[in-house]
Amino acid sequence: MMGTPAVALVVALGAAMGAVSAATQATTAAPPAQAGPPAPGAVERGRVLFVRTGCAQCHGREAQGSPTTGPRLGPGGLPFNSFSRYVRVPRQQMPPYTDRVLAEADLSDIYAFVQSRPKPATPRLLQP
Ligand code: HEC
Repeated sequence: MMGTPAVALVVALGAAMGAVSAATQATTAAPPAQAGPPAPGAVERGRVLFVRTGCAQCHGREAQGSPTTGPRLGPGGLPFNSFSRYVRVPRQQMPPYTDRVLAEADLSDIYAFVQSRPKPATPRLLQP
């Protein structure tokens, strides 16, 4: 008699843990593009492509931006999907880059480079 509720509890716990591990597997099974660290070499390839494709002319060699030619690009900022969409179809002054001019894989390396940039230093006087 005393044993029955305990057994039920163990069964319920087991089912709950099974559900948790199934959920974990579901999220690890199909990682979204660009989640996690970039592939080895992506940052270095991206650095070269950033200059060769011309991004650096407006956004600066370190993607640091310039008040006159183009904004700082990273780290943070747009997620890869929006980044890619912007480069393909810019809304303002930036020239468009189709995937014939710049393959999606190369753009992904450029994104890895941009994301690897150091955060801008906040001047000490502006810190709270
Ligand atoms: C001729 C100058 C120029 C070149 C070359 C250029 N950009 Fe831009 N980019 C801009 C300007 C200016 C903006 C600000 C919005 C606008 O005017 O379109 C911008 C905006 C962006 C944005 C949107 C940023 C945001 O946070 O909204 C992304 C992403 C971007 N550029 C990536 C790139 C990449 C990657 C390349 C190279 C493949 C590149 N740009 C080449 C001038 C340029």
